[in-house]
Parts: sequence; structure tokens; C-alpha cells
Amino acid sequence: MKLLARWTAWLITVSTLLLVWSSPPVQAAPDTAVTNTANFSTDVIYQIVTDRFHDGNPSNNPAGASFDGTCSNLKLYCGGDWQGIIDKINDGYFTGMGVTALWISQPVENIFTAINYSGINNTSYHGYWARDFKKPNPAFGSLSEFQQLIATAHAKHIKVIIDFAPNHTSPAMETDPNFAENGKLYDNGTLVAGYSNDPTAMYHHNGGTDFSTVENGIYRNLFDLADFNHNHPAIDQYFKDAIQMWLNMGVDGIRVDAVKHMPFGWQKNWMSSIYATSPVFTFGEWFLGVNEVSADNHAFANESGMSLLDFRFAQTVRQVFRDNTQSMHSLHSMIAGTAADYRYVNDQVTFIDNHDMDRFHMDNSNKRKLDQALAFTLTSRGVPALYYGTEQYMTGGNDPDNRARIPSFSTNTTAYQIMGKLAPLRKVNPAFGYGTTQERWLNDDVFIFERKFGKSVALVAVNRNLSSGVPINGLLTSLPNGQYVDSLGGLLNGAGLTVANREASPFTLAAGAVAVWHYTTPEVEPRIGHVGPTMVAAGNTLTIDGRAFGTQKGTVYLGGTAITGANILAWEDSHIQVKVPPLNSAGAGAGRYEVKIQTANSALSNVYPAIEVLTGPQVHVRFVIQGAQTTFGENVYLSGSIPELGAWNLNKAIGPMYNQVVYQYPNWYMDVSVPANTTIEYKFVKKQGSSAVWEGGSNRTYTTPSSGTGTVVVNWQQ
Ligand code: NOJ
Ligand code: NOJ
Ligand code: CA
Ligand code: CA
Repeated sequence: MKLLARWTAWLITVSTLLLVWSSPPVQAAPDTAVTNTANFSTDVIYQIVTDRFHDGNPSNNPAGASFDGTCSNLKLYCGGDWQGIIDKINDGYFTGMGVTALWISQPVENIFTAINYSGINNTSYHGYWARDFKKPNPAFGSLSEFQQLIATAHAKHIKVIIDFAPNHTSPAMETDPNFAENGKLYDNGTLVAGYSNDPTAMYHHNGGTDFSTVENGIYRNLFDLADFNHNHPAIDQYFKDAIQMWLNMGVDGIRVDAVKHMPFGWQKNWMSSIYATSPVFTFGEWFLGVNEVSADNHAFANESGMSLLDFRFAQTVRQVFRDNTQSMHSLHSMIAGTAADYRYVNDQVTFIDNHDMDRFHMDNSNKRKLDQALAFTLTSRGVPALYYGTEQYMTGGNDPDNRARIPSFSTNTTAYQIMGKLAPLRKVNPAFGYGTTQERWLNDDVFIFERKFGKSVALVAVNRNLSSGVPINGLLTSLPNGQYVDSLGGLLNGAGLTVANREASPFTLAAGAVAVWHYTTPEVEPRIGHVGPTMVAAGNTLTIDGRAFGTQKGTVYLGGTAITGANILAWEDSHIQVKVPPLNSAGAGAGRYEVKIQTANSALSNVYPAIEVLTGPQVHVRFVIQGAQTTFGENVYLSGSIPELGAWNLNKAIGPMYNQVVYQYPNWYMDVSVPANTTIEYKFVKKQGSSAVWEGGSNRTYTTPSSGTGTVVVNWQQ
């Protein structure tokens, strides 16, 4: 059944390819069934604001002043729900666009009260004002409708990603318990805490953030949202349990709201609890403005075990294709820069607009700009996410104007057609999902780039100049000799390409054109395209996707550790799953390890960038060091014996620690993810550049809690 569906999908796709090539034929996609939750690199995501998509069940619409069935007041509920999404899955709207994953609004119960700001009522239609993370939002549907949504999606080979916002509940005022719902949190109907009566400090009470530093953004409130203290054991456990409840219903992925605003150590410990049972693709939202490049953002994507929404990609694409404030040179530097800065660049989620920025499309006289940006995104590295309605050329400025109800489900728009032609290629040709990116031709208006994975190649040419064509001479490519048709079928004025001896025959890239040419053939040598999750502990499932693994079990190497026998859970030609073994009996083999495989015929694969193997299941501990005086420019770090604390490597020490909000200088604190029930040695160290001043005395020791959270408060020892 599964096989039949895959073949049908393949046949549909291949008929749209029309690759003119003598030998060998385009390879069937042996790819990633919908059950492969660890790998989204061959998927295309569609982002839905559930309330604004489709009302499939009017009986769940909120009553009274919170609801506007005409959806003209965009701050009120409009009626969209899970049944509406089910209806659209069933009528083929997503499949026709090649969409294989849906990202839906946070599904949990939100406040019911409308909040009056300056005389205007605001509702929680967007799903970000939670009150009970263990119940469904009744305006979106019941739990059984949610499960039906998942079952319906899976039957059509579509994955489901939920938005999730564990940073906060809802707007609250410290001084007025009667404001809105006082940020109250419920546990499946039982009140846990309210913001202004909070004796055990389940929330932060440090005022609102001014966004001046990362610390300020984490421990103060995001706007007026009641901000959680994740170091509270009940809050930590609540979110581990709540996400588990949704994962148990078959959710395939998580989009984590506001990751810049939650302690990184807490998030790492939460992710490790998720991956212990469910290796689901998880990507965080770390907003970056125009021209913003952030080392903290890269570090988070590289170290946290989750991916990020690729705002650097989105902002640059908007500047280049829409605003004309940057040239194609910037597009190329963004691609090169992100490839260097993100350890797993193919796992970052790309997009051209979303619910927190004005819509890409502005002017109906010029849809080509959007069409180009969309085609570029679908053929670039990263997992593309299309914001609902972008395919219908919806316009709209900042929130909530960018969140109007989708006006039509037309399948005839050019953007819809582009999706239908390009999105499925990610399942057909691994160069799109797994490939490297190389610049082949560049000027202010033209970018021609090549994606390559083993012998599979895709060449993409974009001319953003809408009034003149550009002659292209001397275009080098890895495409084998032959003639290639444009995968877009000329939809964006592309034409065929002739290649001889690694060079394309001269041609003119038409004004405003995008052309996509590609080639794929079975690999002979084993080649890894994707490994996930990128943070695991012993006992977790690790998934390796690629080509030519063979059909008989071989060996997976995690650094020097060979994984064989019963620890290999699945071994197919393009897909392997293993159970991560303890790296040695003492569990001291944690650290970062590259991944490679060896086939049953002894052929060795390429080496995949190192993933993190944790010492064991993690808990959250706050380390506080008091009385640590520093000179200007010097900061305090935490160093320790385990890899999670840098294994005494000063360059990997945890910090700089914070000293402004929860504790103030000369006291410093940091929230850290450490292995549970483990005795560790640690010390604090003052660092400035390459100079380091360690604490005196012998190493400190601490046995971490086996569950719950911990707090360690000590004084700097001379
Ligand atoms: C980021 C979300 O994307 C945004 O829409 C929301 O309002 C805030 N986080 C708070 O949850
Ligand atoms: C790690 C620990 O042994 C600590 O006590 C020592 O000061 C540093 N290494 C520096 O060598
Ligand atoms: Ca409804
Ligand atoms: Ca926070």
C-alpha cells in the first residue's frame, strides 16, 4: 500500500519532469516515508494560521464578541479549524502543491477572554496565549478531531508540525490580577498557578524585556506575556509531559516559539526528553531583522539539538527579489555565509514571509518577484516553508493584516503551479534536499547556482531583471552531457539547456526568468544526505538517510564506535535507523562525533558533520557563583568534567554567565543542561580573550538530580 502510493507519487512527478536524457532514467524516489519524522530535508512545509484557513465546522466557532464570521476584524476569531484543514487535505489542495508537511497554529487551549488594548478587543485566534497546554483549543476542534487531522494527513503522506510556545501563557499585569486571565496556567483543567499570586515563583517577575541583551530577553517578559521560570521543577515537568501528550497523538514535528527568550540550557534538557521517545524534526523561532547576522543564533542552531527558522535567508531573499535593496551578490554571500555558519544548513527552515512580517507580495502588477523568490526557495538548501495564502498572492502589512483569511483555494495561480512543479523534485532528486550549493554565474541581477549530491545535480538560473535578458556564456556545470528541459516547463520563461564537456552552450536567460535543470541517477558509493536528530543519548533512535546503503545490514560509525547487530533497527538502501548504544560502559564516551556508514560490501560513505552524544538523559540545573569580581571585559564561565560542561576545554566552557536580571554582579548565573543523577566535577573560570583565571582550591563536585531541576549556589574560591 505504502509502496503503491510512493510509486503513484513518483509517476505523477516524473510526468512533470520531462527530462530529455538518453541513459539512465531518472531514479525513483526511494525516499523517506511519512513516518520519517527525523528528516524533513526532502519535504516542503505549508504554514497555516489555523483560524484563518478554512472553517470546516461552524459549530465550534466562539460565541459572542470574540468572533467575526466575516473575518473583517482581524483581531477576532474567524472560524478556521482542524476540520477545515482535513477538508483541504482530502480535496488535494496540498498534494497538488507538492506540500508534504503542515505547520499549524499552537493547538492548545488558549484564554477565552478578549483583551481590551486601547479600546480594541484582541483574541487568542493566533494560538499564542495558552492557558492549558494539555487541552485542545476548542475553537480549532476536539482531541479526536486533532487525531483525525493527523490520520488524514498521514494517509496522504503529509506530516504534521505543531507550533508550541512554552515561554509563556498569556498577557498578565503584575499589579492587576483582574487583567485578562492573569496568565493562569492549568493542567488538564486543574489550576496550577496565576501570575499575580505566585508564591513558588513559577513565573518570572522581572518586568518586560527591552531586548537589550539575550539575558534580558530570557528572564524578563516578552511584551506583557506571563513568562515561565523553567527552573521550577513543576514547570519543567509540565512541559515535558505536555509535549509528550501531543507527540503521543502522532505529531511529526515541532516549531518552538520564541527560543531566543527561554534559557538555552532548559531547552536542551527539554529536547533531550523529547528525543528520548520521539525523534521529531524541531525548529525554533529566533527572529532576525533585516541585515541582522547573529553568532548567538548560529550557536543555538549548532548546539541546541534543534534547527531554526532561517530568518537570514528570508530577509535577504526579500531584499534581493522584492525590495531591490541588495543585489544577487548578497544572495550568494548569504548562501555561502550560512553554509559556513550553520553546521547543518540543510536542516534550517527557509521562507519568504510569515505571520510576523508583512507579506512578500505587495503589488499585483508584479507577481514575478514573488514567483522568483518562491522558485529560488524551493530549489535552495534548507527545508522550504510556504506561508498560507502566499500561493494566492495575498497581500497585507504587519500583524494582523498579514493574517487575513485565505481568499481562495485556486489551483490555477502561477505560484501554485510553481509549487506543484518544484516541490516534488525534493523527493525525486536528492541534490535538492541534501546537496551542496555552488555559485556558477553571478552578477547584480543573475544568480546561477548548482546543487550537488553525489552524481545528482541541479542547476538553477535566476534573472531578476524584469526588463532585459542576459546572455550567458562559459557556464560550467557538473550536469553530464545532454539536453535538459526546464523543470518549470517554461512557466517563468526558462528554456532548455545543452551541456557538453561540463559546459552549457551559450544561451540568453530571459528577462525575469527562472529555469531549473536537473539530473539524477542511482549512486554506486554509499552517500549520507541527512542525519537526525543532531543531539542524542544512548537508547535514542538515530536516523540516517541517503543513497546506496545496500539492502543488507552494514555498520554505522559514531566516531570510533561501530553500531551493528541488534542496534540496527532498520537498514534499507536509502534509510537506516539505529539505536544509539552506550559509547562505553561508564557512559564517559559522550561528546561530538561524526557519522559515517559502511555497507555490507565494505564500502565507506562520506562523513556527516559531528552530532552530539549526551552523557545521558538530561536535567536542568542553575549554577550560581557569588562574589566573582572581574576586570572590565572579563567574564565568568562554568567549566567541568563532562562534555556538557566542555570537558575542561576552556573554549567549550559554558558562558559568559549572566549577571543582570536574576542575580546581579558580582554574582553570576547560568542555566545548564546536564546528565541526570551524575556526579560531576566543575569549577568557575574568569575569561577574557585567551587569558583565563581559574578558581583556586580543588575541583568542586556535584551530584545532579535524578529528576526535577537543581540549583547550585557557591562562592568564588580564591
Ligand atoms: C513569535 C510568534 O511567531 C508571534 O506571532 C507571537 O506573537 C510571539 N512569538 C509570542 O508568542
Ligand atoms: C581543570 C581542573 O582540573 C581545574 O581544577 C584546573 O584549575 C584547570 N583544569 C586548569 O588546568
Ligand atoms: Ca470553526
Ligand atoms: Ca522567557
